[in-house]
Amino acid sequence: MAVDTVINGGTVVTDSAMFEASVAMNDGTIVAVGDADSMPDADEVVDATGLLVMPGMIDPHVHIDDQFSVDTYETGTSAAALGGITTYIDFAWQAWLGDLSPFDAEGTLLEGVRRKQQKGETALIDYSLHGAITREDPEVLDELADVIDAGVTSFKMFTAYEIGLGNGFMNRVLERIAELDAVGVFHTEDASICDELTALFQEEGKGDPTWYPQSRPDYAEAMSAEDAVRMAQEAGAKYYGIHTSNRKAADVLADFRGDGSMVRAETCTHYLVLDDSIYGELGNQAMIAPPIRKPDDNEAMFEHLRHGSLDVVSTDHCGYKLESKNVENWWESTFGANGLQASLPVVHDEAVNNRGFSYPFLVRVMSTNPAKIFGLPNKGNLNPGTDADVVLFDPNETYTITAADNASEADFSIYEGREVTGRVKQTYVRGELVAKDGEIVGSPGHGKFIERTLPDWSV
Ligand code: URP
Ligand code: ZN
Repeated sequence: MAVDTVINGGTVVTDSAMFEASVAMNDGTIVAVGDADSMPDADEVVDATGLLVMPGMIDPHVHIDDQFSVDTYETGTSAAALGGITTYIDFAWQAWLGDLSPFDAEGTLLEGVRRKQQKGETALIDYSLHGAITREDPEVLDELADVIDAGVTSFKMFTAYEIGLGNGFMNRVLERIAELDAVGVFHTEDASICDELTALFQEEGKGDPTWYPQSRPDYAEAMSAEDAVRMAQEAGAKYYGIHTSNRKAADVLADFRGDGSMVRAETCTHYLVLDDSIYGELGNQAMIAPPIRKPDDNEAMFEHLRHGSLDVVSTDHCGYKLESKNVENWWESTFGANGLQASLPVVHDEAVNNRGFSYPFLVRVMSTNPAKIFGLPNKGNLNPGTDADVVLFDPNETYTITAADNASEADFSIYEGREVTGRVKQTYVRGELVAKDGEIVGSPGHGKFIERTLPDWSV
């Protein structure tokens, strides 16, 4: 019997090796990896000569269709597919009331999960959700088990914005997370320091975006990370630090790793390749929290990725229009920038081409590690029996990134004009071709909500 697709002639990249091999896919699953001669007959044979055949990338930190993004699931997943990303993890919000809030009444986490699943009906790639806790309401503790049963096994807490939680409440949540064996996900910036400095800059009229990084200093991130990771350690909870931006914060997390079993952390594409000179060049387009830091912090991110004390590179994608950035003072700008479509080419170009990291490293930090950390056993590798999420990547094609190519609703790119070598050619999600040669060829609705398991970090 013939299978659906065989990919011939490419170089397979896993998290630990690279080798010439063919890959067979059937009914949405990888069915064989091996010599071309050993492949079954196929309805479609794809020639991948000169291309890398990698597991689809997994982005565990994106914002789609909510207060941090005007992208819909169709536009956000299209950008992801064009960028070689086959699964992302977005946020299910516990509804709250406030200036930032898109909600008109408070609600539960489980309602937040159902709300995002409805939006997800137009997804082209697979997606999952983190529960985002926005209020110090102890009732949330009673629903965490039900949310886990719904396949959402990680819970995000912010220390910043109006949805920021105090240490006392986060400590309580962490104890419950430890009992349930789930994952605590943390945005850590000391709010009192950042808010005080912001107020001071406002008084002093320091509204030019070049002032922005000083309003949210690196030590404020490191201090808050230290509090949160220490509480997680005391509670015995799994800790995942998001968007680590600087040396001081990454060093704190590395110190707490101990035997490595309970602490994991990411940085983002922009903290690897951009420095604070971007605020002079692009102004509020690069208004992202935490801020883009110094060249030495770029170096620190790579050092920690190399040592394994940072595990993942995510995008923190926020799909915003330029009009929300074109404001007088930086504090009136939206916070966040789009990155789903450009991330893999940008990280590949900087890490592999410029800094000599290996292709398996790229697969580890952008696919296998996020799958293992967040309980996605059928993703992040090309093993027979797992989902046929595959990206064909030309490591030699050079092109220039421009927002004119954006599938996201966002009409700018913080990587505008950047020439990169390495381009996504084809993206398969569970065996279906969804993006080819820069065009979307898949159908909205193919993407599925993936229920995640409770991850085992001891293996
Ligand atoms: O500036 C950012 N990162 N916006 C998105 C929300 C967050 O802090 O992750
Ligand atoms: Zn954040």
